[in-house]
Amino acid sequence: MTGSRLLGSGSALPERLVTNAELSERIDTSDEWIVERTGIRQRYIAGEDETTASLATKAARAALKDAGVTAGEVDLIVLATATPDNTFPATATKVQDALGCNGCVAFDVAAVCSGFLYALATADSLLTTGMGKCALVIGAETFSRILDWEDRTTCVLFGDGAGAIVLGAPDLAKPAREGGPGVLASKLHADGAHHDLLYVDGGPSSTQTVGHLRMKGREVFRHAVANLSSVLGEVLDDAQIKAEAIDWVVPHQANRRILDATAKKLGIPPEKVIVTVDQHANTSAASVPLALDTARRDGRIVPGNLVMFEAMGGGFTWGASLMRV
Ligand code: UT7
Repeated sequence: MTGSRLLGSGSALPERLVTNAELSERIDTSDEWIVERTGIRQRYIAGEDETTASLATKAARAALKDAGVTAGEVDLIVLATATPDNTFPATATKVQDALGCNGCVAFDVAAVCSGFLYALATADSLLTTGMGKCALVIGAETFSRILDWEDRTTCVLFGDGAGAIVLGAPDLAKPAREGGPGVLASKLHADGAHHDLLYVDGGPSSTQTVGHLRMKGREVFRHAVANLSSVLGEVLDDAQIKAEAIDWVVPHQANRRILDATAKKLGIPPEKVIVTVDQHANTSAASVPLALDTARRDGRIVPGNLVMFEAMGGGFTWGASLMRV
């Protein structure tokens, strides 16, 4: 088995930028507290006419353009989100219709902040087993719609956005594990015992409401560093790669301190970690592809680089993937 290849990436942000200073006019917080505890300086918040599907479509179009792939060539759309436009149908089907690739496989994945890792591993498995030749893997969120804007312990942490990649089926002549491009290894985990540390207090089957995000931040933080360090070790072992060989880590952007602590545990220098949490805040499933696209566009991540993706979120869910881009 050999892994699927990255053909292109794209991203989209809402028009409205909200700084920490603007938030501190509305709630009891300060730019100083937010920057010191999280590294976040600003976030983008969706307007009335912007939804998870519209941001996802914009990111997907950019990724297809970057890959030089037409919508008609897409066999599979896997969209990770915890903030779908509707309870059903899947937001992926809205994106499919907007792109005009009706008829291909399209579904959503719900693994919250680890959603992109779950979507990537799913799409990679389906392409590797011959379900198609080309996949759009998207992470898109409008977390602003599920935040309790009176709760300063959570509302300052999140933002809206979308990121997408185009994955191509494995190149059998140049396997990823023999130096070719593609996914070398992926590992996913979940532990439902921690449901109450990070969840939304509503839903169609429980309260018939959308609900608001609730988080015990300090406890999530502790688990995040431990789980991420362990899953990164598993992926490196599986791929038989040493941490020093990694060119870039593209982590889920929840908190600058989690990124630093995880990199330190693995012995990866901070210069190799892509950080966008200062610009985008925590965009849940969108954060990894948004950070990847940012670093490809500014020329840091280039073809041939070994890139580690990792994320941890509500559930708990967590995972990591190693890819030669
Ligand atoms: O993406 C999914 C995964 N999510 C995460 O990974 C998030 C993980 N957790 C974190 O990033 C951090 O725990 C937080 C950023 C959420 C919080 O940082 P912390 O250093 O753990 O702070 P804390 O929750 O222990 O709160 C410290 C103090 C408290 O005051 P007291 O009780 O010590 O007087 C809070 O009330 O900071 C207070 N506080 C605030 N002050 C100003 C909490 N939120 C704010 C705020 N502005 N926005």
